[in-house]
Amino acid sequence: MRSFLLLLVFLLARPGFSQPTADTRNLLPVPTTVRWGTATLKPKTALRPQFQGPPDSLTAAAVTRTLARLGLNVPARNQSAASLPLQINFGKVGRAELFDEERYSLRVTPSGITIDAPTSLGVLRALATLEQLPQATGRNVVLPEVDIQDQPRFAWRGLLMDVARHFMPVSVIKRNLDAMAAVKLNVLHWHLSDDQGFRVESKTLPRLHEVSGQYYTQDEVREVLRYAAARGIRVLPEFDVPGHTIAWQAAYPILASGDTLYKTVYQSWRLANVAFDPTKETTYKLLDTLFGEMTALFPDPYFHIGGDENDGRQWRGNPRIMAFAKAKKMLKSDGKTLDKHALQTYFNRRVLTILTKYHKQMVGWDEILGPGLPKNAVIQSWRGKKGLYDAAKAGNPTILSNGYYLDLNLSAANAYGTDPLPADNPLTPAQQKLILGGEAAMWSEFADSVIVDSRIWPRAAAVAERLWSARDVNNTADMYRRLAAVSRQLEGLGLQHRSAPEQLLRQLAGPTDVGPLRTLAQVLEPVKEYKRHFQGFTYTPSTPLNRLVDAAPAESDVARNFNCRVDSLQDAMKATDARGPVFAMLASRRNALAMRQQLQTWQANNSRLIPLLAASPTLTEYAPLSAALSAAAALGLERLALLEKQQQPDAEWQASALKQLNALNKPAGQTELAVLPVIRRLVELR
Ligand code: ACM
Repeated sequence: MRSFLLLLVFLLARPGFSQPTADTRNLLPVPTTVRWGTATLKPKTALRPQFQGPPDSLTAAAVTRTLARLGLNVPARNQSAASLPLQINFGKVGRAELFDEERYSLRVTPSGITIDAPTSLGVLRALATLEQLPQATGRNVVLPEVDIQDQPRFAWRGLLMDVARHFMPVSVIKRNLDAMAAVKLNVLHWHLSDDQGFRVESKTLPRLHEVSGQYYTQDEVREVLRYAAARGIRVLPEFDVPGHTIAWQAAYPILASGDTLYKTVYQSWRLANVAFDPTKETTYKLLDTLFGEMTALFPDPYFHIGGDENDGRQWRGNPRIMAFAKAKKMLKSDGKTLDKHALQTYFNRRVLTILTKYHKQMVGWDEILGPGLPKNAVIQSWRGKKGLYDAAKAGNPTILSNGYYLDLNLSAANAYGTDPLPADNPLTPAQQKLILGGEAAMWSEFADSVIVDSRIWPRAAAVAERLWSARDVNNTADMYRRLAAVSRQLEGLGLQHRSAPEQLLRQLAGPTDVGPLRTLAQVLEPVKEYKRHFQGFTYTPSTPLNRLVDAAPAESDVARNFNCRVDSLQDAMKATDARGPVFAMLASRRNALAMRQQLQTWQANNSRLIPLLAASPTLTEYAPLSAALSAAAALGLERLALLEKQQQPDAEWQASALKQLNALNKPAGQTELAVLPVIRRLVELR
């Protein structure tokens, strides 16, 4: 009976949590080993930092930041105030770009805190963990007693930010670096050039930034590099060549393979398939000039040259380039067709020579993998796992981004379930060592500097955990619980992933109550993958991103939580057989009540929202979704009423309800109702 009651309490309190969880509290990523004690640090006791290690102002500054965030710094005017030691021991100053060690141990006891790490990078990671330890007990927030040993599974844990499609000012980059540090990501992949813009000031080829309008001055770049280094984050610049280069061609038309003269950077999101002319020496001379300048600006030993998405159509269309390819035996066996891969490999080798001269190692997208690629070039796999494993088999270090594309608006669970090295991977132990890690990728066609945080966070944290924590840390429900805690933590760090969409909703609601619009927006998601380009609305780089779709979450928490309630209900119904109907009724009563309230809110929302939808031209297109939410909720309520009466729905009712739900499933305004599949599950329950 006792275990029965415990189970009951568990079901009532934690809908959907069926798997047992280790005690992970708010730690994300989950550390290697954690032993919780029973004591706590006395609340509000200031911490006095003590260092043993080489003098390092960056480490000292990081400690000061952490203590300020915890509210535990010794007040400057009261140095004699009661305090406990924060003892920090480290061997050497670590550098992220050299893959220096990040492991650490962190011990919190009632008499103080100790961090031990071989390098200052480990100290930074320990501080990130420390910032996730506070827990509320009664009226106080306390640090619990704990002993943590931790080290990353993968050395390369990145976030790509695309500042070419929409420019992101320095302040946006900085707050995202803060968020990265909080979840122990250590590579900012800065996608600095594309068809739509070249975003770094060039003193040698100034037209590059001049045609792009918005760009970082070199002083600003150095400011970002310093900010990142202070957080143990390396910065990998990407200058994508030979494709994705309309911005370059608008500045320096001599680079072009085709005969289109671009007077401005590209004003479209369509894949352009333009490429540099790989046959002209002037192309390499210009690249040498620019890369000479940029390799000096960016200290990382790696330099990303892109290399993706050039289908060779411009090369095939240019008789001079075809003649060059013929002379160099770069035709396919028919003697006529261009071997595009051979010509791009030629281009890559020329670029490689330039990078080698400037002491850089090449990184490129998986298209660059091919014969002649040096073994130190890093392959970034975006088209699938195959590129990752092919690269490792060829002896090249490699990182995974396929599965981690945040711009596809897939769930955090989807990214979390993507493991670069699952247990059944096809690689030998030596090849496995070449899998350096991975990167979440935030391509920004549909994310400007206002809403970009909301497209990155908190989902990127799920990738961060996948890349830091052990393979068997894979309880998705527990990940989501901690993701919510991280989301709150990031708000405290100044991230705008929650406030910016809310602000947008308020703008859209104008003087009316934002509540009903928020209720709708919370259960919408932008259409997935790249469907947003193909919904009868043509976006250009200057289309404002300020419609309801931009305020809709990439993944609806409200829909997911409702899904957990359906899980709970289903579990309770299954338990009926074993425990009897009384159990099922008790276990599901509270859950059912919450579901009823939610469904009623949705059902009633449409009539509250109609006046605003009708009055606002930018909102009118969402009217069908608001009506659909109401209609779907009504069906959900009918099913719930039967459940509460312990009646099975008759087959005819169920078939009709499912048919109606199918008919409601139509995107509008480039969004879809995330809650429809969930209500469908409820209707289908038997
Ligand atoms: C890419 O997404 N084209 C690398």
